[in-house]
Amino acid sequence: MRSFVVVGNLATTTPDFSLEDIPGTSGRLDILCRCINSAFVLSHGIRRDVQIYLILRGGGAPKTIRLQGRDLRHLNPDERTTAALLKKALALESDAKWRRSTPGIFVRRGDLADLEVWGEGTTYYLREDGIDHRGVLTAGDGTFVLGDHIGLSAEDEGFLEGLDAKIVSVGPRSLHADHCIVLVNNELDRFEATVQ
Ligand SMILES: C[S@@+](CC[C@H](N)C(=O)[O-])C[C@H]1O[C@@H](n2cnc3c(N)ncnc32)[C@H](O)[C@@H]1O
Repeated sequence: MRSFVVVGNLATTTPDFSLEDIPGTSGRLDILCRCINSAFVLSHGIRRDVQIYLILRGGGAPKTIRLQGRDLRHLNPDERTTAALLKKALALESDAKWRRSTPGIFVRRGDLADLEVWGEGTTYYLREDGIDHRGVLTAGDGTFVLGDHIGLSAEDEGFLEGLDAKIVSVGPRSLHADHCIVLVNNELDRFEATVQ
């Protein structure tokens, strides 16, 4: 399973945002919507072997939304529809247990450290000054952690260091997180196509 984790430092934990102005009213949930698109959407289908965790820290106790490609339904390529799915998930009562919102979308209270993916395969922290991801990524389980427009805090970085995460770069320029996800997916696709 390929897992992506995106930290939304200001991303809202409530459904009280406007679908007419997602960037301005949701703590940049638009960034996370684009990450969802890049993680799952193929020309004619959905990547079923991918999951993404969105860490939402924009108010009160942090929440996590998980989208699981295997069961995902109703995902369209546009941001508005994706944001509407997240809005629905955020409207659910939530505690420390996963609750299903729509097929393949789950929500609960919790932060980065609470994820169950740690220890399942290698953890990669995507950072501009990391080592080149080419030749480092391998097929199989892997978890890829990215920041939003703010990046990751020193505390988050310390947590990932404790997991022995590999710090990797996808290229010499600072890119948007969703574009990094496309590049990682592509690199893994290419790797898997040559080893099969
Ligand atoms: C727009 S960038 C963050 C910029 C933010 N100002 C900072 O300094 O962290 C969003 C995220 O994409 C990832 N990223 C951007 N460019 C990258 C690159 N060349 N290699 C690896 N990851 C990259 C990082 O995870 C980063 O936190």
